[in-house]
Amino acid sequence: MKKIISSISILCSLLVVLLSCADSKTEMQKTIEKGLDRATIASLEMAKSLEGNKLLPKTFENGQLVTSDSKWWCSGFFPGVLWYLYENNPTDELKKYAIDYTNRVEDQKYTTDNHDIGFMIYCSFGNGLRILGTDSYNDVIVQASQSLSTRYKDHIGVIRSWDWNTDVWQYPVIIDNMMNLEMLMWASRYTGDSIYADIAKSHADKTMKEHFREDYSCFHVVDYDTITGDSRLKQTWQGYSDTSSWARGQAWALYGYSMMYRETGDDKYLNQAERIADFIIHHPNMPKDGIPYWDFNAPNIPDEKRDASAAAVMASAFIELSQQTKDNKLSELYLNTAGKQLITLTSDEYLAEPGTNGNFILKHSVGAIPRDQEIDVPLTYADYYYVEALMRYKKLEL
Ligand code: GLY
Repeated sequence: MKKIISSISILCSLLVVLLSCADSKTEMQKTIEKGLDRATIASLEMAKSLEGNKLLPKTFENGQLVTSDSKWWCSGFFPGVLWYLYENNPTDELKKYAIDYTNRVEDQKYTTDNHDIGFMIYCSFGNGLRILGTDSYNDVIVQASQSLSTRYKDHIGVIRSWDWNTDVWQYPVIIDNMMNLEMLMWASRYTGDSIYADIAKSHADKTMKEHFREDYSCFHVVDYDTITGDSRLKQTWQGYSDTSSWARGQAWALYGYSMMYRETGDDKYLNQAERIADFIIHHPNMPKDGIPYWDFNAPNIPDEKRDASAAAVMASAFIELSQQTKDNKLSELYLNTAGKQLITLTSDEYLAEPGTNGNFILKHSVGAIPRDQEIDVPLTYADYYYVEALMRYKKLEL
């Protein structure tokens, strides 16, 4: 009798687990569907509103749409959003706009005065190539990779990020720069020339050595001596302080090393991404809903702005990392964290109602609080990584 009762209770527990799995699966499916539907409505409206000119959306402030030309570091994100939405729902209208907005960024393939070429060209042309296979896009991305490579100095071993503030910095590199390496890895595969991948790996290795603290949080800016190649300053530009952990910086780091593991299969990058993930997930100031404050050490938490863009970048990276880790428990943790972030971003608090928010998808991102720029506004990269994360989750087919 005892045995029968115990078997029944095991069966019941199993049923409860199965039912709750099915519930959370349905919740994620609904979240993804709602997020992609809203993103499509908003992005088509945005595309129509800028039809016939060469502008790109930047943000929405004081009730006004703010646009940029292709030079702004974010110019590739809106075309990238259109490509993801076209991949999800291949209509002629989305395709037409994706091609149009991608073409607006092409002149940036010659950019050599900053490091953001990967963001600009790979999010736009890279996605277009992946989804549509347009042959001419190959040449654009190779040219962009050549331009980016001019910013690498062998004796320093990293790609220079910025050319300004030269009174203070000699050779500044920001953690964000990890994101530009994906394009270089592609360029080596496509051309057969290892130079691009060699640069990317050198940059990732030296950044791993110089940008990270013992707890695997990272500095925003590391400045290198142009003669010796040694680091000489470790600072912030967009975070709260030089010793704090700027939320989006931690997100770029997480995404960057997970991406480098995908591109190289080298375990050191996977280990690095897992340690960064550990810092983010278990940080005492990480809110339960998964949307970080703009800096993990902002002085007035919980009365500080959240940053939806950092959450979106993290969510996308956590989904990828959940498929890379060799530890089943970590895989579940990463996927649950991303799921929670996506559910929060898809709630009324963050996901804009159609026809509001200047036709951006998400509300409540932060560009640079210490610079008094883009505080609690929509931003194109929040939208891009949100849509990418929705698509990544959808493709898991759980
Ligand atoms: N890459 C600039 C930023 O994250 O604000």
